Amino acid sequence: MLINSIPLREAKDSSAIENIVTTNDKLFRFANADGTQADTATKETLRYRTALLRGYESLKAGRPLTTKTAVDVCRAIKDVDLDIRRTSGTNLKNQHGKVVYTPPEGEAVLREKMANWERFIHDESDLDPLIKMAVAHYQFEAIHPFPDGNGRTGRVLNILVLIEAGLLDLPILYLSRFINDRRSEYYRLLLEVTSQQSWEPWVLYMLHAVEETADWTRGKIWAVRHLMDHTVRYVATALPKIYSRELVELFFVQPYVRTQNLVDAGLGTRKTVSGYLGQLVDAGVLREEKAGREKLYVNVRFLDLLTSDSNDFAPFSEASAGAGPGDRRLA
Ligand SMILES: Nc1ncnc2c1ncn2[C@@H]1O[C@H](COP(=O)(O)OP(=O)(O)O)[C@@H](O)[C@H]1O
Ligand SMILES: [Mg+2]
Repeated sequence: MLINSIPLREAKDSSAIENIVTTNDKLFRFANADGTQADTATKETLRYRTALLRGYESLKAGRPLTTKTAVDVCRAIKDVDLDIRRTSGTNLKNQHGKVVYTPPEGEAVLREKMANWERFIHDESDLDPLIKMAVAHYQFEAIHPFPDGNGRTGRVLNILVLIEAGLLDLPILYLSRFINDRRSEYYRLLLEVTSQQSWEPWVLYMLHAVEETADWTRGKIWAVRHLMDHTVRYVATALPKIYSRELVELFFVQPYVRTQNLVDAGLGTRKTVSGYLGQLVDAGVLREEKAGREKLYVNVRFLDLLTSDSNDFAPFSEASAGAGPGDRRLA
């Protein structure tokens, strides 16, 4: 549940920093479909999620973070067979089009600097891993190894650095929420490390980002777990004939579910699972939506929790079987 949903919020905000803008609703709608119907920005944002998860899997398979990881992440995001920059002319402009920073050039130079970045994230110093992450993010962005995608790749790497250091188990810290909210400060502080060697404000900014988004993410996980337990109990009581924990949990993998997802999960034939879905809609657990020729079933409370900052949800009551959700109350 966590690994499928929270990275989509991270993907949306990290892409938004680069002006690739989609909606939470589109992302969740296409998250477990083949995605071919999605628009360009939604596809590109879904690829950020894929890149993050691939990076995570590569760490879990025992491969350390290297330049190759960065290349793989950037390729997955951009869906292009790119590599470390070979051409010149890359520079960073402010919103008025003025060049504010020109990164180094030459493939050999960039590879050497990336090797230095690799050594830095793995050195045995007693520097706190959170500070290391902040410093390494500046370093990576200053190297700017790719023609494009450096911001997003660097933000995926932040999460991977924390996982490799053992501070996170899953890639579910929603760090880009803070950065996207304070975007202009992010650009200004990165620039001031270069122009004024002003490290402290930059490091404090990133520590603050970790603190705030760790709190946000923990609160969200707690709320989703409560909603899931509450839904399990409700379905077990209100619909004992169709209840199974696997059935309910399927609606917490993604908030949008298709009949085929239930069939694929081995819950029954199309006919059987269609019956389940109908009963869950009648009981107020799911909402049916038409999307072209397709029917989608939305776990509305879960979608609400995932897409808002609030951690409240409307509890089920016996009376709400057959009716819609009750009053919005504190979970
Ligand atoms: N002054 C700066 N020095 C170093 N890096 C910067 C500076 N200003 C912005 N950046 C980084 O560059 C990123 C944008 O680079 P870009 O390659 O376009 O990323 P993306 O394609 O993901 O859009 C920003 O998100 C930020 O991380
Ligand atoms: Mg860009």
